[in-house]
Amino acid sequence: MPIDDFPLSDRMSPIAIDELRIDEELTTPHAPLKSKIDTTTQSQPSKPRFCPTVDDPFSERHADGSYKVLNQPLGMRRKLRVVCVGAGASGINMAYKMQSHLKDIDFVAYEKNSAVGGTWLENTYPGVACDTNSHGYAFTYRLKPDWSQIFSPGAEIEDYMQDVVDHFGLAKYFKLSHTVTGAKWDPTLAKWHVSVRPNDSPEGEGEFTDTCDVFINACGLLNNWKWPNIRGLHDFKGKVVHTAAWPKDLNLKGKRVALIGIGSSAIQVLPQIQPIVESCSIFIRSPTWVAPPREGEILTPEQMEHYRQHPEEHLEYCRQLESLANKRFGYITRGSEDQKTLFEAWSRHMKEGLASRPEYYDKLHPSFGVGCRRPTPGPGFLEALTQPNVEAVFSGVDHVDETGLTTSDGERKEFDVIICATGFDVSFKPRFPVIGRNEINLQDQWSQTPRSYLSMFAVNFPNYFTMLGPGAPSAQGSIIVSIERISDYIVKFIHRFQREAIKTFEIDEQAVEELAEHMQEQLKLTVWTDNCSSWFKNGSKEGPVIALHPGGRLHFFSLLMDPRYEDFNYTYWNKNRYAYWGNGYTLREVEGRNDTWYLQYADGLRLHEF
Ligand SMILES: Cc1cc2nc3c(=O)[nH]c(=O)nc-3n(C[C@H](O)[C@H](O)[C@H](O)COP(=O)(O)OP(=O)(O)OC[C@H]3O[C@@H](n4cnc5c(N)ncnc54)[C@H](O)[C@@H]3O)c2cc1C
Ligand SMILES: NC(=O)c1ccc[n+]([C@@H]2O[C@H](COP(=O)([O-])OP(=O)(O)OC[C@H]3O[C@@H](n4cnc5c(N)ncnc54)[C@H](OP(=O)(O)O)[C@@H]3O)[C@@H](O)[C@H]2O)c1
Repeated sequence: MPIDDFPLSDRMSPIAIDELRIDEELTTPHAPLKSKIDTTTQSQPSKPRFCPTVDDPFSERHADGSYKVLNQPLGMRRKLRVVCVGAGASGINMAYKMQSHLKDIDFVAYEKNSAVGGTWLENTYPGVACDTNSHGYAFTYRLKPDWSQIFSPGAEIEDYMQDVVDHFGLAKYFKLSHTVTGAKWDPTLAKWHVSVRPNDSPEGEGEFTDTCDVFINACGLLNNWKWPNIRGLHDFKGKVVHTAAWPKDLNLKGKRVALIGIGSSAIQVLPQIQPIVESCSIFIRSPTWVAPPREGEILTPEQMEHYRQHPEEHLEYCRQLESLANKRFGYITRGSEDQKTLFEAWSRHMKEGLASRPEYYDKLHPSFGVGCRRPTPGPGFLEALTQPNVEAVFSGVDHVDETGLTTSDGERKEFDVIICATGFDVSFKPRFPVIGRNEINLQDQWSQTPRSYLSMFAVNFPNYFTMLGPGAPSAQGSIIVSIERISDYIVKFIHRFQREAIKTFEIDEQAVEELAEHMQEQLKLTVWTDNCSSWFKNGSKEGPVIALHPGGRLHFFSLLMDPRYEDFNYTYWNKNRYAYWGNGYTLREVEGRNDTWYLQYADGLRLHEF
């Protein structure tokens, strides 16, 4: 039921309402504590007043306007409606975290597809697989000891995502086949109005509005695939396909294939199609690194069984892999010893792999640092590239006609199928209008150089989070790990928002300005700003790095541990921001929970050390 349909009195926690033993007669907020020793003489805590809402924002005031202590314990929470877009790894994890850690959250995630899984549901091209060790590509609360391969196939990851949903009973949160078409901030209600279209409703009909307190955009940073801007591409009479929208019935046996691009998708596709096609020309307009096999080994069935029986040992195994991933920032620093070592090792690997085609090595081997583009382990790629039925064409594509393709160098060749492995819209512009304060559209605000705070927040967009927005640690290791760390931060934020009668939170403009200044200078120290074309720079060579956090993953994760709440501007439901402190009691006491949690065998203080 939408929050607005709840009667005002029900908007507090049902726990607070149902479990409090209420003494209607008690008028003073200074009731004595409940005691386990002698309960007979104790008064019960006073009836909590309900948290102020937009209908009653100044309820801590007497009729004459003077301040009045709210007769409620500290810890009362508002019931919130949270709407999320997307049921990929981010949306699934968000549902899990909401269910596991928050109370009184009315959570829904709209998903345009008919199933969960996002990336792994949509990308079904031959060879699609993880490019980070699978044991790290799993949520901490559902580690999986029996991945079939180091770099598990996409279908297996898709199954894993579905398994997480089934195992934790998360399906109830997802509205599948529902596309979000827009969102608008309502400053009076302090709510988002989210427009949703059920996919089965005819164009222009069936759209409805879902109104929520918090809006989370988890549409995926690599979900919006796009056709390359090539003249005449759709005049081609044969088949033109994109790797991210692979037709189930595409038969490449004996076909003359053009493969455009040399990003991760192309590197995974080529070894799979090379054995079956008559010929394949791969069009490469920029050099790239092809990584040698990475750390990790396929576990034997016995090892898998052992890890199943001993999850703590599996966790230790995962930690070791994770630790390796965390050390990778060393090579991202330009001029570092790690970078030099890797540059030499990967050059050697490419030279050896292309020994039979040395002219390919000269053109493919980059001068920019390893990691400037997201590197992909390319098992079988160099081998496939050097097969007799494969030709590398080191040129851009000028245009396509009905039967063939002409390169920027003027060479024309005929094909049966054109495969565009040409990537995604990585501009970070939301896929639908998101209208924030003062009618500002995030699509416009982020049309040039999108600026965020810790990848989640944008100026002018209160009570709004982006998952994996600009400035996330998306270049190193498994994104799943980052998704979990980011969602934990969001949960902390919502928890506080819910209990402190916060009406709006919004990142401070000055904070974003200063962060942008720091980011762009820090990033100059890294190979990410070398002269390579990369989706980290929205596909450009020289452009600023938009996608990435200016530091390693550990750096990012550490920053998330203790949110800098002072970097935000807040408004409150109450005139006095401390009204939620209430009558001096805590919900813990009222609910009879452990009230000596601070007494432990040892000093319980844990400060987070960077
Ligand atoms: C082919 C490929 C391979 C990858 N391999 C790796 C890897 O090996 N390791 C790694 O760490 N990362 C990898 N990534 C990055 C990958 O995208 C992330 O790991 C992860 O899947 C992102 O999850 P997500 O939920 O944020 O986004 P997604 O998985 O993209 O999910 C976003 C969801 O939002 C939905 N959506 C979008 N717009 C709307 C709308 N308007 N209304 C309703 N729903 C909407 C989409 O349908 C989708 O289901 C890969 C990406 C691709 C494309
Ligand atoms: N698990 C995995 O291994 C895996 C697999 C796929 C994707 N991914 C993720 O998704 C990201 C994107 O990968 P992607 O390979 O799909 O895209 P990508 O890395 O953006 O690569 C796109 C390729 O297409 C080329 N291209 C684009 N437009 C072109 C045009 N008009 N003419 C000729 N060439 C053109 C680009 O060349 P230029 O570089 O010259 O622009 C580039 O080589 C990866 O970096 C990774 O994060 C991971």
